[in-house]
Amino acid sequence: MPKPIIIDCDPGHDDAIALLLAFAKPELVKVLAVTIVAGNQTLEKTVLNALKVLSFAGVECEVAAGYDRPLLRTLEIAPEVHGESGLDGPILPEPNFKASIKHGVQTIIDHVRTSKEKVTLVPTGPLTNIGAALLGAPDIKENIERIVLMGGAAREGNWTPAAEFNILVDPEAASVVFQSGIPITMVGLDVTHEAQIMASDVEFLLNSGKKVGVMVGELLEFFGEFHKTMGFAGMPLHDPLAMATVLEPTIVETKHLPVRIETQGQYTTGRTVVDFYGVTGEKPNVDVALAVDRDRFVQMILDAMLSYN
Ligand code: RIB
Ligand code: CA
Repeated sequence: MPKPIIIDCDPGHDDAIALLLAFAKPELVKVLAVTIVAGNQTLEKTVLNALKVLSFAGVECEVAAGYDRPLLRTLEIAPEVHGESGLDGPILPEPNFKASIKHGVQTIIDHVRTSKEKVTLVPTGPLTNIGAALLGAPDIKENIERIVLMGGAAREGNWTPAAEFNILVDPEAASVVFQSGIPITMVGLDVTHEAQIMASDVEFLLNSGKKVGVMVGELLEFFGEFHKTMGFAGMPLHDPLAMATVLEPTIVETKHLPVRIETQGQYTTGRTVVDFYGVTGEKPNVDVALAVDRDRFVQMILDAMLSYN
């Protein structure tokens, strides 16, 4: 029976590939809705990007715009990574369907409240929508199976030395989520930086003769530019690894650890503070991904992208 999921994202090159991965596996997951948050780019752009990518792949589903800014802070975007459009690289046609008129947060609440099976939330952007849904409708916790999120890092950050982008953009929302008591799998930079797709894989996609495969190759070519400047050999597929972890949980190895979110530090705001040695005495609240089967992951991505006609 496919697992009911809601994807909350900020497309974003890697978000786009995570969406395509999910819709390539209907035997494993049923996407109840795709909700959108501001993050990599402004909300207007992240919504349009989601609609464009899904339309290009021949997928139509409920897409609902959520928050255009963090709960308390001003929005920080990442044009240096994702470009002015938030999805620079391929030229994508205008979408062939529109976003829902319902707010993304209400969409999450309504689907979780009415789902006959517990829902898995898969956030791959800042946690504003998820945090707001939990604050606005705490009852939904009872019908959430797990939150498998791309965010955080037990070790080094990527947007500051201490913090990963998704958590840094809205640390208050992240704190609401991490302290919610809901089972959480944190797919952070510790594993996504290992889950790199290489130039040879991109060439394979570009030469596949399949339109979605070629388009993903073009996305990765652009996405790789920024990561070259950071000294990466390839392109870390952050969000697709969170989605892959929903599809095949054994693709990562996790440790159940206490994790809290720093919201005050001058140099450390946005840090996921992981207590490896139990020195805080806090109860473990997060399954932290610390190792990944990279080859199996990359093969899953390539197969999924080429499964589209
Ligand atoms: O730090 C990586 C995360 O930030 C990814 O989700 C990427 O899409 C950006 O949102
Ligand atoms: Ca993202």
